[in-house]
Amino acid sequence: MRCSLAVSLMMVFGATCGQGPSVYTPRLTSEQIGGKITTSTFVLDQPRCVFNGVVNPTDEIWLVVAQSNAVKNFTNPRSSTELPYQEFEKNHVYMTMSTVPSNYPCPESTQNSDEITVLRVGDETKCIADFSRPDCNGPLPGPGPYQVKFLAMNSSGPTAETKWSSPIPLIQGKSPETIDTNPERLSAGTIAIATILSILFALLLAALIAALIYKYSDVCGGADIVTVRDPATVMRYTTHHIYDQPANKF
Ligand SMILES: *[C@@H]1O[C@H](CO)[C@@H](O)[C@H](O)[C@H]1NC(C)=O
Ligand SMILES: *[C@@H]1O[C@H](CO)[C@@H](O)[C@H](O)[C@H]1NC(C)=O
Repeated sequence: MRCSLAVSLMMVFGATCGQGPSVYTPRLTSEQIGGKITTSTFVLDQPRCVFNGVVNPTDEIWLVVAQSNAVKNFTNPRSSTELPYQEFEKNHVYMTMSTVPSNYPCPESTQNSDEITVLRVGDETKCIADFSRPDCNGPLPGPGPYQVKFLAMNSSGPTAETKWSSPIPLIQGKSPETIDTNPERLSAGTIAIATILSILFALLLAALIAALIYKYSDVCGGADIVTVRDPATVMRYTTHHIYDQPANKF
């Protein structure tokens, strides 16, 4: 009994703090945040309490971002300047968002529960082409998938690292060529509208035919033929009549 209590306490302790970088897997945040994954960004949980007490307080914690297919061959750089964002297309890996371990504190030292505890990867646009900012957190250039890990470094090289995350695919922007125009895949809504339009057209046609039949049946029956006299004819007739009268008096 005492033993299981001790194990439980150790598990709680291990879950909240001091689990160490080598067993930590970076992950997409579970916080309720809009745009957790977009076409050029994704949002991670901060590696809180992962490096504290393991690395020197002056070490820098970097985020390594890699194309998934480049992870297998990746070896940690000696220096943080080797993998700038601006050469991501060439290296398939870049390093960004460097900070000190104290910025990823343990929950015990966190006073404000409203504090932002996430990292948005790809959120910076001004430094995309600025070679003085190799740590640029620039937009991700394609749908990925990407994998990330946190890497602690001091001036002589890496000092600790986490595991790689699982692959993170981004939302793909749809280009006009890829929009499906296959008529076999018409939606139920489109089919319903087409059906209603067909029925309306049929009703209209029936009404037109009925009107024509009605008109011609009138002509044939001759019951109600209205003869419209040309107003000009009427006028001429009247004028002629009035004109003729004085002539008759002579
Ligand atoms: C990984 O390295 C091996 C051997 O160095 C090479 O043959 C292979 O093409 C590399 N793979 C990638 C995805 O770069
Ligand atoms: C960097 O870290 C390594 C391993 O932790 C250590 O041996 C080395 O002395 C450190 N270098 C500096 C300049 O702090």
